[in-house]
Amino acid sequence: MKKRELVAWWRWFSESECRGYSPLYESISNAICASDELHDRLLARSNHVRQPNMLLAAMHDLVLRGEAPELAAHYNSPASPLAGAGDLFVETALHRWDELVPVLEARRTQTNEVGRVSVLAPALAAVVADEPTTLIDVGTSAGLTLTLPHCRIDYGDRGTLGPADSPVCVDCEILGGDPPIRPAAITRRIGLDRRPLDPNDPADARWLLACTWPDTGRLERTRAALDLAAAHPSELRTGDAVTDLPALLAELEGPIVVTTTWALAYLPDHARAAFVNVLSAGSVGRPLRWVSCEAPGVVDGLPEIDPPDVEGISASVVGSTVFRGGIITERRALGHAHPHGHWIWWHQ
Ligand SMILES: C[S@@+](CC[C@H](N)C(=O)[O-])C[C@H]1O[C@@H](n2cnc3c(N)ncnc32)[C@H](O)[C@@H]1O
Repeated sequence: MKKRELVAWWRWFSESECRGYSPLYESISNAICASDELHDRLLARSNHVRQPNMLLAAMHDLVLRGEAPELAAHYNSPASPLAGAGDLFVETALHRWDELVPVLEARRTQTNEVGRVSVLAPALAAVVADEPTTLIDVGTSAGLTLTLPHCRIDYGDRGTLGPADSPVCVDCEILGGDPPIRPAAITRRIGLDRRPLDPNDPADARWLLACTWPDTGRLERTRAALDLAAAHPSELRTGDAVTDLPALLAELEGPIVVTTTWALAYLPDHARAAFVNVLSAGSVGRPLRWVSCEAPGVVDGLPEIDPPDVEGISASVVGSTVFRGGIITERRALGHAHPHGHWIWWHQ
């Protein structure tokens, strides 16, 4: 990668990803665009380190460790970043580079949005039959959506799910249709990820927070969700969606529901097709259902329904694919949803 390409990446990141969403990261990204020395340091590292989110997360990790107090003052006044946040970021990054590098090299950006339980809950209620079912969440990250039964989900006048005193509250507006608001008969929940984060491991939990942008209002709920996940541990397995899922499926008896929420997009096309083949093979002798919440076009074969146009946000598609006896027997588009679960639009 050439220096001008790196600068163009940060410029695009500032204007397209941060502007209007994270004033803090917009001002930091602009300052990084202007730092020749930081460009040299980034270009000397491996490819994944150059992704804007990596440097931002590694520095946020330092802040969360309490080791960059001057910068923390900017991160903790999220509404309007204090003047000079960008320059201070660059200065700190250059000065603390040797501490940042091991984190930059060892970690990958990780996100896990607990708000997505509001999308999963009606989708699971719609597809899971009354018989006890095992859920496998593929690409589970820290398994935060596996805490679904312990979260309070509020659908306004359509009803609520979960304990009223849960520390994690998710508000979800139903923009259209009549989604089922009831628990699904899931008796076991397993998360699979090639790099799962353990909510009980302080460094893992901190890294997930570090990857959460500080001034977007998501940090506190993610922190609460990590605590909830630590208090109600799920079975988290390390493994690949294609090469390791068959062994996991072979271990399990009875009906299975597999979920992917904003995870399939991370698989290349050939791996997405291989994943579907793994699900087909796993359905011999029992029903296997796949609930997918993914960006449009990521899951092949779902019926196409026009997405709602809400505030210019690209709605995700909530899909159901049923496998029986090694073949796909049904594909449904259940609805559309806000990528973080703020609203759903039900079609079924
Ligand atoms: C954007 S995160 C989504 C996390 C979570 N499902 C959610 O909705 O918040 C994508 C996750 O998929 C995992 N992942 C990517 N490719 C994978 C693969 N081939 N096998 C297993 N997990 C994978 C990543 O490690 C990451 O944790």
